[in-house]
Amino acid sequence: METDPALAARAALAFWRAAGVDMEEAEAVFAAKAGPASPRQRSAGPAASPAKPAPPPPRPRPKPGAEDPVASARGLAAAAASILDLKAAVQAFEGCALKRTARSTVFCDGTLGAPVLLIGEAPGKDEDEQGKPFVGRSGQLLDRMLAYIGLDRKVNLLISNTIYWRPPGNRDPTQGEIVACLPFVERLIALAQPKLLILTGKAAAHTVLKREDGVMKLRGRKFLHQTEAGVVNAMVMLHPAYLLRQPQQKRLAWADLLTAEAWLDDLGVDRTR
Ligand code: URA
Repeated sequence: METDPALAARAALAFWRAAGVDMEEAEAVFAAKAGPASPRQRSAGPAASPAKPAPPPPRPRPKPGAEDPVASARGLAAAAASILDLKAAVQAFEGCALKRTARSTVFCDGTLGAPVLLIGEAPGKDEDEQGKPFVGRSGQLLDRMLAYIGLDRKVNLLISNTIYWRPPGNRDPTQGEIVACLPFVERLIALAQPKLLILTGKAAAHTVLKREDGVMKLRGRKFLHQTEAGVVNAMVMLHPAYLLRQPQQKRLAWADLLTAEAWLDDLGVDRTR
């Protein structure tokens, strides 16, 4: 029986990824051939799904005798009175299995009290090594893009993610992992009370806005996001990792940046120039 070489190669990729090996470059080759599939590794791409609220994601079921990870995350997050407390709470959290395979807890980087909070998806290899979000290739592109509209982590920007530990081999985070970290994401937004919340890519957009529309449908629009501490202005942008794979989409990212810039002007947010 003849084996389809593409199938065999995919099986090998899946095997090594499951074993925790970083298959980023090899997967990028497949992604380029197969077209957009997921926000972090493959796409924040043009899937246009109907504009209806997403059903609540399934909660991870606690093992008998073990504490419910979501309840534990909620308790830790609610007790945090500041972003630094929240960082310590995330570091103390044992309810996400990814913590056991990751090197670092990657919580946030930038300026506490910044008027802009950006949330991405999950740490990759470089972020895991350095313990900071968005420091690899996509992070460098993100920094350059945001610099065009006067945003700088050292001055007026705080950056975080939807989950805080690198998934092995950069696979997509599971719903269970996302749900376990969600109380921390929500508490960060409530504590930061940014003038503008930027959600980059599908995982952040879906998790925070609780919508299942494709990123192409959500990007560039103005949302009012309800938090426990009040309403926050929010918008969705294409993920920089997607732009690295699909450079022709940079024109859309440029349009998103102009939307953000105009909104920041309206909100009176001072920026570096
Ligand atoms: N992509 C993300 O979404 N977050 C990071 O921190 C790095 C890459």
